[in-house]
Amino acid sequence: MSIFDQLVIPPTAHHTDLLNIFLVFSMLLFVPYACVLLGASFLSVYFKREGSKRKNSIYLRFSHDILDKLVVKLSVGIGVVIVPVFSITFVYAQLLYNAQVISVSILLLSSILFTAGIILLARFKNSMNLENVFSSIKNIVPEKNKLPENVKSIEAEVKSSISQNGITSLIVLIFAVFLYTGAVSIAENPAKWDSVTNILGFLISPDTWINFGLFITSAFSITSASILFLFFRWNGGLKNMTEEYRQYVTSFSVITAFVSTLLIPLFLIIKFLITPEVALSKGVFIYSGLALISLLLVCNFFYAIIRNSEVKWSSAAFLVLIIAFTFIIIKDQVTLANALKKHLVVVNHVADSIENVKFPKNVKVAEVSGEELFTTKCSACHKFNEKLTGPPYDVTVPKYNGDVKKLAAYIYNPVKIDPGYPAMPNQGVTMKEAEAVAQFLIDKVKQDTGK
Ligand code: HEC
Repeated sequence: MSIFDQLVIPPTAHHTDLLNIFLVFSMLLFVPYACVLLGASFLSVYFKREGSKRKNSIYLRFSHDILDKLVVKLSVGIGVVIVPVFSITFVYAQLLYNAQVISVSILLLSSILFTAGIILLARFKNSMNLENVFSSIKNIVPEKNKLPENVKSIEAEVKSSISQNGITSLIVLIFAVFLYTGAVSIAENPAKWDSVTNILGFLISPDTWINFGLFITSAFSITSASILFLFFRWNGGLKNMTEEYRQYVTSFSVITAFVSTLLIPLFLIIKFLITPEVALSKGVFIYSGLALISLLLVCNFFYAIIRNSEVKWSSAAFLVLIIAFTFIIIKDQVTLANALKKHLVVVNHVADSIENVKFPKNVKVAEVSGEELFTTKCSACHKFNEKLTGPPYDVTVPKYNGDVKKLAAYIYNPVKIDPGYPAMPNQGVTMKEAEAVAQFLIDKVKQDTGK
């Protein structure tokens, strides 16, 4: 983690609170849409393959519509996935400042993979669109054999790049998600920081697999909920759907949505059971509870769609599902904050001391008081008008003619002067203190004797 520790400044306690809020917002953007991208690329690749194999036009159209509706423009992908995932990585780097934990490097790797996956997915979508252009051309040209040779060869090229881009983007996204879920689950469990030191460690860590399973089921749940919502409700839904197509899409999506949404609580409960005690708190209970209730409500909506084959509930299902995701994300952040409490006490302390060096608080440096110094360090041997162990000031101080520097130099480092007295022991004062007390003596003698 040494690269990060050099780049990253440790957060102060106040800064830590801000980071936690920022983390929740980044995740609210990132998690749902990353889920949709994963689910959409899986379903699209799957239906494309099956459709081509079985020459099933419903599958082929479904594959195309999923990409078209769910995978938005690259620029949006950058805004809601790539920027947030890099921000999440950076927040983790700050929260995990100086911790010997692999999470931050893995999150960085995962961010890079997400970027690659999204670019590949955009290419997959483009080549699908190109393929459609070729189909339209064929519809216009009555005799297909009359298509020029080069058009045919470009078509073949596009076709092969479709399946390649689709499958690679899917694999890259799955890896990205796996690493992300592994990195996040390790961070939540400080007891494992020392033992899990490489990707292999993730593979054998049950926490990672539970988190991964949760992500995958969430992906299917939110993807199929989005299909129902975007195909049938949003802006009046898709145009030109045949009854057969409509029925297939509805029944496939709602059953997938229902089953996967029912599985989410299962993963949540297992995750709850394996969460280390340090990471649990009232907040974790409350948000888990709220998430479970909203998920059950969502399942109810899906069930209503299955029973009445009425898609009108899909808007409500979609909305409540997003709310459930919000609760899960907040719960995860509360868990993380609890788990890092001990670690952050140290980090905040380091941060505070760095801050104090950089921006010294305007605490007035206590003025060195000459009178006080005299009372504590000198009065045992000196009076102003009487001889004690040392000579009276009223006699010795006027020799200095008001020269503070010269008198201070003597007080700072006394030398032998009067044979009638023993040497004055060094009083161990600083030059500043010596100057203060010298000034005090000069002023006082002048006041008392006029000299
Ligand atoms: C342990 C006793 C002792 C203490 C404490 C002590 N002094 Fe002295 N001081 C002496 C003695 C003895 C002399 C005479 C030394 C000599 O003439 O060589 C002296 C001499 C001086 C002189 C006269 C120097 C000169 O030019 O003749 C000054 C001024 C002075 N002390 C200031 C201080 C101040 C200020 C402090 C406190 C920070 C202090 N002393 C604490 C014993 C003490």
